[in-house]
Amino acid sequence: MSADAWWRNGIVYQIYPRSFQDSDGDGIGDLRGIRERLDYLVGLGIDAVWISPIYPSPMADFGYDIADYEAIDPRFGSLADFDALVAQAKARGLKLILDYVPNHTSDRHPWFLESRSSRSDPKRDWYLWRDPAPDGGPPNNWLSNFGGPAWTLDEATGQYYCHSFLKEQPDLNWRNSEVRAAMYEVLRFWLRRGVDGFRVDVLYHLIKDDQFRDNPVNPAYQPGEDESHRLLPLYTTDRPEMQPLVAEMRRVVDAFSDTDSSRVLIGELYLPLDRLVAYYGRNAEGVLQGVQLPFNFQLIAAHWQAAEIGRIVRDYEAALPAGAAPNWVLGNHDKPRIASRIGEPRARLAALLLLSLRGTPTLYYGDEIGMTDVPIPPDEVQDPFEKNQPGKGLGRDPQRTPMQWSGEAGAGFTAGRPWLRLAADFTHRNVAAQQADPASILRLYQRLIALRRREPALHEGHYEALEAGTDVLAYARVQDDRRLVVLMNFGTAAAPIPAQLLPAGATVLLSTRTEDAAPVAPGFTLQPLEGVILG
Ligand code: GLC
Repeated sequence: MSADAWWRNGIVYQIYPRSFQDSDGDGIGDLRGIRERLDYLVGLGIDAVWISPIYPSPMADFGYDIADYEAIDPRFGSLADFDALVAQAKARGLKLILDYVPNHTSDRHPWFLESRSSRSDPKRDWYLWRDPAPDGGPPNNWLSNFGGPAWTLDEATGQYYCHSFLKEQPDLNWRNSEVRAAMYEVLRFWLRRGVDGFRVDVLYHLIKDDQFRDNPVNPAYQPGEDESHRLLPLYTTDRPEMQPLVAEMRRVVDAFSDTDSSRVLIGELYLPLDRLVAYYGRNAEGVLQGVQLPFNFQLIAAHWQAAEIGRIVRDYEAALPAGAAPNWVLGNHDKPRIASRIGEPRARLAALLLLSLRGTPTLYYGDEIGMTDVPIPPDEVQDPFEKNQPGKGLGRDPQRTPMQWSGEAGAGFTAGRPWLRLAADFTHRNVAAQQADPASILRLYQRLIALRRREPALHEGHYEALEAGTDVLAYARVQDDRRLVVLMNFGTAAAPIPAQLLPAGATVLLSTRTEDAAPVAPGFTLQPLEGVILG
C-alpha cells in the first residue's frame, strides 16, 4: 500500500481509553496500558488506532469536554507517555489517530473563563453569547443534544451562552477567525508530534445560523423519545458555511502530508446520505477537498436483513463522488454494541460484511470478541446522557465497559476496581479464551483481516451486487482477473446457492462457521446464518 493511500485500504480500530487497559491500578485505562497492548493490535491485523479524547478534562462528558487541547490528562499519563506511544506504534507500522473536539470546549477551559469574565473581554466573541429573549428566557428554541435548552444564562454578565451538548461544554464560535486560527494550531501541535490524523467530533455542528432562527418542530417526534428530537436541527447543523470551513481545515492537515505520510481527517457526521457525501467536499473541478472519510454509520441504524443491507450498500456506492474513499462502521462509544443489537451469530456475519465491503472499516474495541452491552444499575450510571434523561435507554455506559482480556479478577484490564463494572460473562468471553478457541469470533476476525490484507480484490477491488434469493446477501469483489464472491445467509434456514453464482474452480476461502475450506460444487448450500468468501 502506498503511503498516500493507507486510509483507503487500512483498518481503523477505536480505543475508548478509559476502558482499554489500566497500567497503574486506578481502575481507569491509560496510555501506558495502550502501549502494553500494541502487540495484540498487531496480531489482530489492524492498521490504525483511533483513541477517544485523552486531554485534560473535568470529565463531565468523559473527555469530550476539554480544558486544554495541548496536554494529556494525568489520568491517562503524560506527554512523554504519549510520545512513547507514538514511537512504539510507528515501530510496529501502526498509525495513530486522535480525537479532535472542535465544536465545544470545557467550561473550565481558560478561553471560556476569559470569555465569560465580561461582555467586553477580547475573547467574548470566541463563544456564542446572546441577550435573553424579551421575557428573560433563552434567546431561541435550540435544544441541547443531551436534553434541555441549548442555552445557559451567565448571571454575572446577563447573557446566555450556547451549548449543543452539556452546559459544561460551551460551543466555540467558528465564524471568529481567531478561534479558527487557535484551533488549527491545535491540529499542528499534534501533527508535529507525529499523529496520522484526526477523528473530528460532531463536525456538522460547527457553524450555527448567523441569525439564530428557531429550529422547526419535528412532526415525527414521539413522546418518550430523546427530547432533542422535538425539533429538526435545521439552523444548528450542516449549514452551508460548513463546506468552505472543512476545506480550510483539510488544508491545515494536508500541509503535513508528504510521500512518507498521508494525514487523514475522519468526520463524525450523523446525516442523511446525500448530505453525508457532501463532506467529501467535491469542488467544481472534481477535486475532493473535504474530509477523506465522512464516517458512514448506516450499518448502525440498519435492520439486519439481506435486502435492506443490500440496498444500503448499493445506494452508498451510487452516491459516492468519483475518487471518494468509502468507509463502514459497525459501532462506537455512542451506540449499542453490534452483538447486542443483532446477537452473536449475526455479529459474525456483520464482521464478514464489514471486512469484505469496499471501503475503510472501523472496528470498535471489544466487538472483535463479541462483547455485549452491560446493564448498569441506576446508582452506577456515569454517562450524563442517561442522567439527564433517565430510563429512555439513551445511556452509553453499557457499550463503554472495560475490555475483557482474561478470566482473572479485573479481566486483565485492571489490578484495581474498574471505573465501570465488567460484563458478567468476562470469565469466559475474553481475549485469552478466544485466542485458544479456533471457533471463536476473535479468531474469525483475525482470519478475515488476514484474508483482506492478502487479497487485493478485497481491499481495493470494485464492488458488484449479485442476486441470490431473499435471505442471502451476495456480491463480488473484483480486481483484474481475480473475482471473489461473498455470500451471507441472513436467514435461519439453509440456503442453496444458484450454480451460476459459484466461480468455476473456486474454494471456500473463509466461512464464518468453520475453518476447513470445502470444495465449491453444484448444490453448494449455506447453513443458517453462515457467511462465506469464495474464490
Ligand atoms: C460526539 C461524541 C460523543 C460526545 C459528543 C459531544 O458525538 O462521540 O461521545 O458526547 O460528541 O462531544
